Amino acid sequence: MAEIVDLGAYGKDFITNPYPYYAKLRAQGPVHRVRVPYGQEAWLVVGHQAVRAALSDARLNKNWRNAGLQSDPGEESPLFTNMLDSDPPQHTRLRKLVAKEFTPRRVEALRPRVQQITDELLETMLAAPEGRADLVEALAFPLPMTVICELLGVPAMDRAAFRAWSNEIITPTGEQSAQEAVVAMSGYLVDLIESKRNAPGDGLLSALIRTSDEDGDQLSRDELVGTAFLLLVAGHETTVSLLTNGVRALLQHPAQLAALQADFSLLDNAVEEMLRYDGPVTTATWRFTGEPVEIGGTVIPAGETVVIALAAASRDQEHFAAADDFDITRDARGHTAFGHGIHFCLGAPLARLEARVAIRSLLERCPDLAMDVDFDDLVWRTGMLIRGTEQLPVRWKS
Ligand code: HEM
Repeated sequence: MAEIVDLGAYGKDFITNPYPYYAKLRAQGPVHRVRVPYGQEAWLVVGHQAVRAALSDARLNKNWRNAGLQSDPGEESPLFTNMLDSDPPQHTRLRKLVAKEFTPRRVEALRPRVQQITDELLETMLAAPEGRADLVEALAFPLPMTVICELLGVPAMDRAAFRAWSNEIITPTGEQSAQEAVVAMSGYLVDLIESKRNAPGDGLLSALIRTSDEDGDQLSRDELVGTAFLLLVAGHETTVSLLTNGVRALLQHPAQLAALQADFSLLDNAVEEMLRYDGPVTTATWRFTGEPVEIGGTVIPAGETVVIALAAASRDQEHFAAADDFDITRDARGHTAFGHGIHFCLGAPLARLEARVAIRSLLERCPDLAMDVDFDDLVWRTGMLIRGTEQLPVRWKS
């Protein structure tokens, strides 16, 4: 049996900067037996090639029941009855019902509204006394949250409560508080769907309730709750970190920032490099083996949990030359920030649009933007799923 690497033993350092640890593991091989920071044993995949192979391997199940496992504590809630926690044919059906809303063309039509929300948020931010603000509060959280709420047709949602539950579920501070957040979130979404059923509107949620497919396919109550949960959570948690990690990378690399400010035709590529260099999702959501599966020369037995390190793949020197350098002119294609295979991020066009609009507008309005705190004093979100800081204090000349 392979030696177990205890990731929890790396401590805070692993959260603040996991890349050197991943580099060390990658040098030893693409697959490792690990104990994740909260104690559970799993298999960690770190090499670019092995990560892409694992992400598209149909033998790795997303739904633990399909792997023949007895129970996965904490996953017994309608919140997890969604496409990301499903395998085909269930996954195919759930994804198809909402995929048409997220095509690059449909998303591009949202550009004027995304720009308008961004402008309003920046207007408020720039009115702040002394020319300083927390970029998370001022822009990175409210922009994607407003966009996804409007898309779903729930503009008046209680965002403060939702954000607190969402943060607790994604980066738990304790087992009991995470469980309480799951129960509260699920109760809230059941009520929200019920109120939409009684007073339908224009958004995606009402459309999903009404019917759906040409076949008249209808979502069950749990599927509706799970889909609303996934879209609301995936629609904002990740994009918050794309904006903050991306702006932080620019401020830490003044020559790259200057190059972008001098030529905004580099913007789309710069956003891809932000996704590659310091993407918001460190590891993909867990997968489960229903049979022995060989990955990168290692056979993972049946009934095991597999954790795929997207962040490790995007920094693999075998695939990206000088992978630890932040270079907005490089060819960043092949990064794994949005995953790969059938679960490839459905919201990628929306995330890209929001990042391009927000980062360009921010730099145009605040050409002298700077960090208002030492990099070492930033507080990092815990857990292995989302990578980002709680705040990003910035200043500018007002
Ligand atoms: C920068 C922002 C984003 C990043 C880095 C990101 C990343 C990811 C990743 C890595 C996955 C695959 C997870 C896995 O295979 O375990 C995923 C799936 C997904 N994402 Fe995103 N995401 C982002 C923004 C969004 C947005 C704005 C939405 C909005 C609706 C969204 C909706 C989804 C959905 C629905 C899935 C599940 C797809 C499926 O199971 O078929 N994401 N995302």
